[in-house]
Amino acid sequence: MTTKLSTPEQRYSKLTVAIHWLTVLLFIAVYVSMEFRDIFERGTPGRDLMKTSHYWIGLTILLLLLVRLIARFSQPTPAIVPPQPHWQHMLAKAVHLGLYGLMFVMPVLGLFILSADEIPLRFFGIELPALIAPDGALAKWLEDIHEIGATIGYGLIGVHAVAALFHHYLLKDNTLVRMSFKK
Ligand code: HEM
Ligand code: HEM
Repeated sequence: MTTKLSTPEQRYSKLTVAIHWLTVLLFIAVYVSMEFRDIFERGTPGRDLMKTSHYWIGLTILLLLLVRLIARFSQPTPAIVPPQPHWQHMLAKAVHLGLYGLMFVMPVLGLFILSADEIPLRFFGIELPALIAPDGALAKWLEDIHEIGATIGYGLIGVHAVAALFHHYLLKDNTLVRMSFKK
């Protein structure tokens, strides 16, 4: 007899699952667009495209976060079967909180950098207003924080992904299946 790892009630809603994996793709794109920007010379259209894509993708992550929070909290957290120890639950919660923070803080910092650097940005046809007055030194400082945030992001995402695979392949519980469309 085969036992199903997860019933529909023990899975995240389809919308939450879709947004989760779409966000993963957007994160890959947002990192790639900046980490590989040097393949184009400064001031070339290719370089500008990399930067603009970075801003757009980052802001899309922020927009999706809002939808995600509504979708996520309109259902109770699906149970992990078999249940995990309390310390693992608390650790997972702390990492999730960090990931939510990353999805909010990074785009917002980005917007502040653009304002301080006096770089205008249209997003879905809307000219975004400047959030702060131009200030080169502040822009540089915010860029440094944004860079540190990106490094912390690598760590958080890495720990989170390894934990998910650990649950699936070693503990053999339903943690990963809960975040999939699998029947
Ligand atoms: C989750 C979202 C985001 C992540 C993970 C992210 C990550 C990064 C990374 C890895 C860099 C390169 C840091 C370096 O090595 O110098 C960077 C730079 C930058 N990001 Fe973001 N970013 C995000 C969102 C945004 C958004 C929404 C904006 C603007 C609206 C933005 C504006 C910038 C700017 C202005 C730079 C510096 C560009 C330059 O040096 O020419 N970022 N970001
Ligand atoms: C950019 C990368 C990622 C971000 C920002 C992210 C974000 C999140 C967040 C915030 C949650 C918590 C959902 C809740 O409120 O309950 C979550 C859950 C989850 N994620 Fe990710 N994730 C990422 C990548 C991954 C990857 C690569 C995997 C798999 C290898 C993964 C597997 C899971 C699983 C299985 C859960 C459910 C965990 C649980 O409820 O304890 N995620 N993710």
